[in-house]
Amino acid sequence: MSAQAPVAPARAEGAATAAATFEPVIIGFTCNWCSYRAADLAGTARVKYPPNVRLIRLMCSGRLDPTFVLKAFSEGADAVLVSGCHPGECHYIEQNYKALRRFQLLQRTIEALGIEPGRLQLVWASAAEGVRLANEIARVTEEVRALGPLNWPAGNIVDIDSVNLDTAWEATGGDAGGPPEAPGGVNPDHAAETAR
Ligand code: FES
Repeated sequence: MSAQAPVAPARAEGAATAAATFEPVIIGFTCNWCSYRAADLAGTARVKYPPNVRLIRLMCSGRLDPTFVLKAFSEGADAVLVSGCHPGECHYIEQNYKALRRFQLLQRTIEALGIEPGRLQLVWASAAEGVRLANEIARVTEEVRALGPLNWPAGNIVDIDSVNLDTAWEATGGDAGGPPEAPGGVNPDHAAETAR
């Protein structure tokens, strides 16, 4: 009688191969004034970063509505990266502190919904930090690759489309009107950028 093949090691090997070939989809919400420009800088400087991240430009990280993150997860993202100006350097004064509060709240929320908190990450990056942003994107990509695909059954848990965005915004400490559409005036760099 022949000996049976060792099933467990073969499965483990298969899982390792799947993890190695899995290409995560990461949605990156970036601030127009810093991290989006950092990504641009990385591109023009030919600094490579994984193509797994799809960048979406917001005027400020403070514009990130919590439902944007849930919507990204519900539509197939394996992770969400939020990136904005360093604390104290937001062009809308202190909106990135609001982004930080929302980020912390969202990490707890997604954990309660069965999503690993590591699938939502926050990175501060100035417009000059193209290399740093590229390195952070590479780090996040590898961390999410190790977590594996998400496949979040959102439709069974929460109806994202019926969420009232205004209520969600205000519930997380946002101003009634959201962050200003036009830059507010204390940062001279910002004024120069808009004049161009
Ligand atoms: S985080 Fe960049 S302008 Fe607010």
